[in-house]
Amino acid sequence: MPNSPESLRSFRWYGTEHLRSFAHRQRTMQIGFRRKDFVGRPVIGIVNTWSEMSTCHYHLRERAEEVRRGVWRAGGFPIELPAMSLGEVMVKPSTMFYRNFLAMETEELLRSHPVDGVVLMGGCDKTTPALLMGAFSMGLPAIFLPAGPMLNGVWRGQRIGVGTDSKRFWDDLRGGRITQEEWGEIEETMTRANGTCNTMGTASTMTSIVEAMGLSLPGASSIPAVDSAHPRMATDVGERIVEMVWQDLKPAGIVTDEAIENGIVTWMALGGSTNAAVHLVAMARRLGRRLSLDDMAAVARRVPVIADMMPSGRFLMEDFYYAGGLRALLWRIRDFLHLDAPTVSGRPLGDTIRNAMVHNDEVIRPLDNPVNHRPALAVVRGNLAPDGAVVKPSAASPHLLEHTGRAVVFDGYEDMSARIDDESLAVDETSVFVLRHGGPVAAGMPEWGDMQIPKKLLRKGVRDILRVSDARMSGTRDGTCVLHVAPEAAVGGPLALVRDGDPIRLSTAEGRLDLLVEETEMARRRAAWTAPPPSYERGYGAMFTAHVLQANEGADFDYLARPGTVKDPSIY
Ligand code: FES
Repeated sequence: MPNSPESLRSFRWYGTEHLRSFAHRQRTMQIGFRRKDFVGRPVIGIVNTWSEMSTCHYHLRERAEEVRRGVWRAGGFPIELPAMSLGEVMVKPSTMFYRNFLAMETEELLRSHPVDGVVLMGGCDKTTPALLMGAFSMGLPAIFLPAGPMLNGVWRGQRIGVGTDSKRFWDDLRGGRITQEEWGEIEETMTRANGTCNTMGTASTMTSIVEAMGLSLPGASSIPAVDSAHPRMATDVGERIVEMVWQDLKPAGIVTDEAIENGIVTWMALGGSTNAAVHLVAMARRLGRRLSLDDMAAVARRVPVIADMMPSGRFLMEDFYYAGGLRALLWRIRDFLHLDAPTVSGRPLGDTIRNAMVHNDEVIRPLDNPVNHRPALAVVRGNLAPDGAVVKPSAASPHLLEHTGRAVVFDGYEDMSARIDDESLAVDETSVFVLRHGGPVAAGMPEWGDMQIPKKLLRKGVRDILRVSDARMSGTRDGTCVLHVAPEAAVGGPLALVRDGDPIRLSTAEGRLDLLVEETEMARRRAAWTAPPPSYERGYGAMFTAHVLQANEGADFDYLARPGTVKDPSIY
């Protein structure tokens, strides 16, 4: 435990009498600091994912200044470490392709610099798990500072949510129910301010889970990005991380099995994103903890969805904040939580939420009046998904959760885009769309799983059909989508063997996903199958493809997910 300036990790850079330490001090003085500003003080790394290509994080440059204010006040020395920014809607082929890249960058930024504690600034989808995975592996005291959600979108007096309503209006446009002019108005009014998506998509799902796991200050994840409470929270974060360094409070001391379960309980009560299933497994493994899809589904079966938030419900994050925010929701579901779990605040979770009040029972509903009686997650297995797949029943059509229909197969995104609106496509409302080659190895696991409904079905008023893929789906979307099918088609998973017209049966009640084809025929197809050529022969993509794990294993790199010693560079 660092109980003196000399015991700080940063002292090995700044405090010793050596030619190298001379250079470290000299170069810090080069940017205007005095020796007494940084020698013997906890050095706080502020890992910032700001960029103009990550519009959800556009305010994080200012927030870094507010974190600095807190660090200085508490006697620390703040240094900002810019990191790769993963703007969810800008990055192609997918931010998921780069999640592990940012995780690795975070870990190595912290390892290679004189850092004693870290503030992780993120929020846009993959940035949250990436920053934390890296920080977990490095093991320094860490606080996650969520970027905060954007304000409600409003169009012609109606509340509109990013992602959920984008898709709804897109279908309306393609089905001829709104005009091009109206579509243009929606584009201008949907995103009114900085911050992460205003629906209960992956961003707010993950930041809420992380707060419930004890890794953010109480209440932080619900504060809208542009609310004045947000910079005040950032200053508190700066103060608190300095204290955490002296207390030697590290992620491993916070993220217990109970804390992880608190995160899962919260996700289910929120009706959050299926993407959390991949990220939580990856995060847990970084701390040597095992978490399975079945562990998560078991929680989903007992925790009702009480946050009436899009895409499962009606409201948005600004409404959620005014209704009391996450602390109020956690107090309402307190009987499901481990209230003695530690948090970065230094107090157990139960203390941090005690007597938080719900101010609007429509947004955060009573336990006996859930949004619907379907869980936020179900796991299915069968001959089409031997290692599992996930579904979000709370945002699905009830009649499709028990369904048998004939497959319409797409061999990747290009094939789907080319044929989805082809009037001759043999499809009706009972069909089962199958999209393969959207898994981790094939494509970095993008959000292709909520395939578009063909125009000809939209014109008939069909808004949902059963879709099955090895890809993910945006947390902002609804629909009956079986996702993360493992193993994926590109490594020979059974999805590779499906043909047009094959009957597929989904039963979420039985936890089954099966291809109703004789095993002899399956064996014949398996023998004839050959692996698709790799998408990348060099560079990051080649490394990614060679090392990424399957969805049910967290889609981390095999060499990052495992324990092992790493030489400490501060000895040099
Ligand atoms: Fe950044 Fe949704 S695009 S959170």
